[in-house]
Amino acid sequence: MCGIVGYIGERQAQPILLTSLGKLEYRGYDSCGIAVAAGNIKVHKDAGRVGELTKVIPQLGGTVGIGHTRWATHGEPSQVNAHPHLDCSGRIAVVHNGIINNFLLLKQQLIAEGHNFVSETDTEIIPHLIEKYYDGDLGKAVETALCDVEGSYAIIVLAAGESKLVVARKDSPLIIGLGDRENFIASDVPAILDYTNRVIYLEDGDVGVITLDSIKIRQEGVEVAREEHKILWSAEEAQKGGYEHFMLKEIHEQPKVIRNTIGEYVSAAEPVADLAIMADTNLEGMLILACGTSYHAALVGKYIVEDLVGILVRAELASEFNYYPQTLAGTGAIVITQSGETADTLKAMKRLKGVGCRVIAITNVVGSSASRIADHTVYTRAGPEISVAATKSFMAQLMALYWLALSYSRIDTRRLDSLTMGLRQLPSKVQQVLDNGDRIKECAKYLSRYENAFFTGRGISFPVALEGALKLKEISYIHAEGYAAGELKHGPFALLDKNTPVIAIVAQDNTYEAMLTNIKEVKARGSPVVALAEEGNETIRELADSVITVPPVDAIFSPVVNTVALQLLAYYTAKQRGCPIDFPRNLAKSVTVE
Ligand code: M6R
Repeated sequence: MCGIVGYIGERQAQPILLTSLGKLEYRGYDSCGIAVAAGNIKVHKDAGRVGELTKVIPQLGGTVGIGHTRWATHGEPSQVNAHPHLDCSGRIAVVHNGIINNFLLLKQQLIAEGHNFVSETDTEIIPHLIEKYYDGDLGKAVETALCDVEGSYAIIVLAAGESKLVVARKDSPLIIGLGDRENFIASDVPAILDYTNRVIYLEDGDVGVITLDSIKIRQEGVEVAREEHKILWSAEEAQKGGYEHFMLKEIHEQPKVIRNTIGEYVSAAEPVADLAIMADTNLEGMLILACGTSYHAALVGKYIVEDLVGILVRAELASEFNYYPQTLAGTGAIVITQSGETADTLKAMKRLKGVGCRVIAITNVVGSSASRIADHTVYTRAGPEISVAATKSFMAQLMALYWLALSYSRIDTRRLDSLTMGLRQLPSKVQQVLDNGDRIKECAKYLSRYENAFFTGRGISFPVALEGALKLKEISYIHAEGYAAGELKHGPFALLDKNTPVIAIVAQDNTYEAMLTNIKEVKARGSPVVALAEEGNETIRELADSVITVPPVDAIFSPVVNTVALQLLAYYTAKQRGCPIDFPRNLAKSVTVE
């Protein structure tokens, strides 16, 4: 959840580290810092964002250094808890992403051996352990130190007097960017795109010694070769491109994302995934697992696959699945993860693999941990998503699910042809929703006055309600609940009054009549209703206080147009309330801790 960077080369490290850290802030942004080796180790760190640090930091000098942007786990955001952390001598500095589970025990042992600690973090034990084992060979000292450590980590180690960086990873992502007489290290690709598009993805258990012109990677003490990859994203794709926020840019990119993702599948010589699991008529069912917004895509996927393929699908939160006594051994599973690094999702994947399940990953990040664990990976083509709030990645996930389900569907040719055509029309339908931005802005102005809201839907619109509520709460800080419309009367009605608007998602499908009834029930309890409905629906106008319209699509595609409208609603509401839209408080984009 934190972002780490390193540089070794012939240029000044400081500006490169700060620029790279700025690109990783979506991973955490409550404090940050850098350390540069210039004879001694010079450290500058504090609570706050990289932009603030950049304004006050003095010239540290030096051509090798490390940096960190933090999402606090152990200890509040503060100067002392910010990374890099040092050993007793101040000659070894470490940045870390992950969690050291046995840090308390190690800390007690190290204190008994005479080490002094200053922070509340788990990370601080790492430089002290390295100090303990360091006898002139930094790489060996790191390898030995990590033998004592239980937990997850991506680390970069800098030592005074050493013209090298030592890196290591276990269950946290780390890449090396390759330059000409310079090398870059980072948690994720956007950090290095300004400098290079050649990367090596480190594997779990790798320890690397990096100089300006060499990279030596060892796994359990044995030297290993790691393949070089070319990143196809451009640096511009990770910029705001004239939009006020990444989120708005990413919402507006969705017609292109749909085209790219579907285009990729349509032109693929082979099916996007070997879904023999779906074609198996004896199949009892399949699982789709994910967290957060990706889980909402999984829930939509359940409806799509059950409808088109005709098999039973369980969509589960990966974070909860890990505690279920049963797994569905022997069946197939799809996991959905934008980053490919979500700790709970990766844990669930490993559990599934452990009981013999075949796992397909739908992910946006080439070379991510999920893609390495999965039997097969379906890549979404959303491009880099920087805003913490997921938007275009959700859309690309839906496209992957539609395409998978259509490829293995058991529906008649007429419906298949009609849906395939409907799918191809989605970019223009989404564009129509985007063009309706001013109307959505008006509704957002109205919504921004409230502190509580419900989002309701039925059937395939239920996950859309969950996603609409998640988007609103995470960026506007309005308390929003996504609810199955039929469930409100089983308890939440107690919360309804004139101060609690209900955003009702009305699809033209078999849920339509029931939704109208639910809206009437809500109105009878005094709550204002904003309805999301198809253009031309006059009945809704008579029932609801306010209506946002979306263009007509086949009901199975309604999550696409409805979600885009709700993304804009959340965005403009948050803007109206003056919230920091791309970097909401307490969150991070990539959740690499359980
Ligand atoms: O990278 P993942 O798709 O696995 O991330 C899962 C969630 O953390 C993520 O979808 C989160 O809920 C969104 N950023 C919310 O907008």
